[in-house]
Amino acid sequence: MTDGPDRYAVIGNPVDHSRSPAIHAVFAEQTGQRMTYTRLPAAENAFTATVERFFADGGRGLNVTLPFKQAAAAYAATLSARAERAGAVNTLIRCDDGRIHGDNTDGVGLLRDLTDRLGTPIRGRRVLVLGAGGAVRGVVPVLLEQGPTHLHIANRTAERAEAIAADFTDLGPVDAGGLADIGGGWDLVINAISAGLAGRMPDLPTAAITGAPAAYDMIYADAPTPFLRWAARHGVARRCDGFGMLVEQAAESFHLWRGVRPDTRAVIAALHPAPQSRDDTV
Ligand code: ATR
Repeated sequence: MTDGPDRYAVIGNPVDHSRSPAIHAVFAEQTGQRMTYTRLPAAENAFTATVERFFADGGRGLNVTLPFKQAAAAYAATLSARAERAGAVNTLIRCDDGRIHGDNTDGVGLLRDLTDRLGTPIRGRRVLVLGAGGAVRGVVPVLLEQGPTHLHIANRTAERAEAIAADFTDLGPVDAGGLADIGGGWDLVINAISAGLAGRMPDLPTAAITGAPAAYDMIYADAPTPFLRWAARHGVARRCDGFGMLVEQAAESFHLWRGVRPDTRAVIAALHPAPQSRDDTV
């Protein structure tokens, strides 16, 4: 069983659209790692059984995507501090003693992409986050650790945003509210409202985006996303979608598993040639 290549996979529901196998295949080729990385679909109520079978069959590690990130945190025998803080796991690692360790590389993936590709540091900046789902819970602590002067979370259901803010007030100046009450003056606007996936954005106050130098959509698509089109219409010069975040979190998982760091820029350029900068942005 141990003679073949080391086996990895991404588990989720649905998982058939995941770009992770393509990304990890390029990483493996780039770094000369002998491994496979496949998709592992699981029924909503079969997460634990599917994971246990995968590791019992010799699997070495998993990425975890919707809707299982919280279940993965509960499943792991040990958690990194950042996974524990987020209450969500996107990377499972089988340790040498057979125990399963959980980590979360989403926040660091976003941070690296904001710095490298969007060119926007967080320290000393005013940051607006739109949405309050699991993705936001994972990235807010990492953003706060960078030292923004103000982080505001706005969500359709204000209470969800307020609950996230309340959990992280010890880390920095964070508050929350509804979408209609968003003020202006942001240095960076990050979207995590999943309505963008369906090709539309909710109505947002223009003040939320006017004058912002940079906008980041945690959603990605082959064409500019509705949020980035909206940002472009309001004059935001620097815009990136979340494909870079996907590649950066994958690279961090790859590093945890294999101990080597792939060249993410080459992978982003090869697999996702910057749709947000094409002429059809608006
Ligand atoms: P994820 O884990 O990817 O963040 P999620 O937990 O389903 O996904 O969260 C989806 C986010 O998109 C939430 O912030 C949700 O707002 P609510 O908390 O009010 O549900 C937001 N969202 C989804 N559809 C929306 C819509 N039509 N208008 C406004 N916000 C929407």
